[in-house]
Amino acid sequence: MKKTEVVPDVYWVGAVDWNIRKFHGETFISNRGTTYNSYLITDEKVALVDTVYTPFADEMIERIRHIVPPEKIDYIIANHVEMDHSGSLAKILNLCPKAKVFCTAKGKEGLYKHYYGNWDFHVVKTGDKLSLGKKTLTFIEAPMIHWPDSMFSYLIEDELLLSNDGFGQHLATSERFDDEVDEGVLMDEAKKYYANIIWPFSSIVFKKIDEITKLNISPKIIAPAHGIIWRKSPGRIIERYMSWTKNESENKVIVVFETMWGSTGKMAGKIVEGLIDAGIRVQLYDVTKTVRTEIIKEMLDAKGYILGSSTHDNDMLPTIAGFLTFLRCMKPKNRVASVFGSHGWGGGAVRNIENFLKDMGIEILQPSLAVQYAPDEAELEKCYEFGLNFASLLLKNKIMQNV
Ligand code: FEO
Repeated sequence: MKKTEVVPDVYWVGAVDWNIRKFHGETFISNRGTTYNSYLITDEKVALVDTVYTPFADEMIERIRHIVPPEKIDYIIANHVEMDHSGSLAKILNLCPKAKVFCTAKGKEGLYKHYYGNWDFHVVKTGDKLSLGKKTLTFIEAPMIHWPDSMFSYLIEDELLLSNDGFGQHLATSERFDDEVDEGVLMDEAKKYYANIIWPFSSIVFKKIDEITKLNISPKIIAPAHGIIWRKSPGRIIERYMSWTKNESENKVIVVFETMWGSTGKMAGKIVEGLIDAGIRVQLYDVTKTVRTEIIKEMLDAKGYILGSSTHDNDMLPTIAGFLTFLRCMKPKNRVASVFGSHGWGGGAVRNIENFLKDMGIEILQPSLAVQYAPDEAELEKCYEFGLNFASLLLKNKIMQNV
């Protein structure tokens, strides 16, 4: 088994989960798997930073054993309680029962409530330091990135930030570093991860990056707990995070619809034609055919959303209802939207989607467009104009924002 050294005497001892597709239940569909990254620091004291999801405990232990006997571990740093990072704690602590477990106060509470282990907990706060010999770890509490217990650990001498969920990607690869993988794929996965996991906590992340900068921490390497380690371009991912945390968006429109017999789908096609003819970048998604995780990723930096649904029993169809519920959890800011759909008699989907979006604080740019049964030529022309008009209002909205 090859040793993977991140910097001298710091090793990646995690696991690659090539085949996971449903992460966090079904909240994240990962078509490229993931990794659970643990890091072993071998100084005068031996420290393990984070563990791996339970089914991969033996793989992590084998990697550790290849470097030092696990019995030699003095400290375990538990940056985060969630089971993808803490799931192997009990098993590793069986091998090094005297190891001290360092975590935040919320971490201690959360770990106890998961595993009920009477472990030797040491609660740390931002700025606390732990000397390992030549190397020193310092801790930075990072509540809600991604749970209340979360923290980052920073190896001062190596300028290495162990950021746990922050800056991660669900990406399984044989390579471990950003200079070894396709940059387009890496950034796409980092964006997907941010959009679907970190987006709701954007204001917290913004403040945390600012706080880290004020602590004079400027990491040369960022080693997250999922995916690839940023050693070539840590500045690049920080820059992207700053843009995402500010909810910056482009003049791009995402059209998402669900259709029962095809009429709402036809409307969507014509609306997209209008948007394209107005010179706007568009992505069109039938929500029953594209996984939500991909659509949310595209919505992260899109200024405009157009949502459509056929009416069923006076309401929207169930897949788009679930999609909107997830979108609401992401708390998008500074977005504009419009709504369309076909109905038979009473209608309801269009009105309910519009109200849902308004309740999310999204500005509705123009009156909704509803069509009875199948759209005729004149109604399809109205759909085209709806797209054209949305584009025009979107561009004006941008101009107003820039004033
Ligand atoms: Fe990767 Fe919040 O756990």
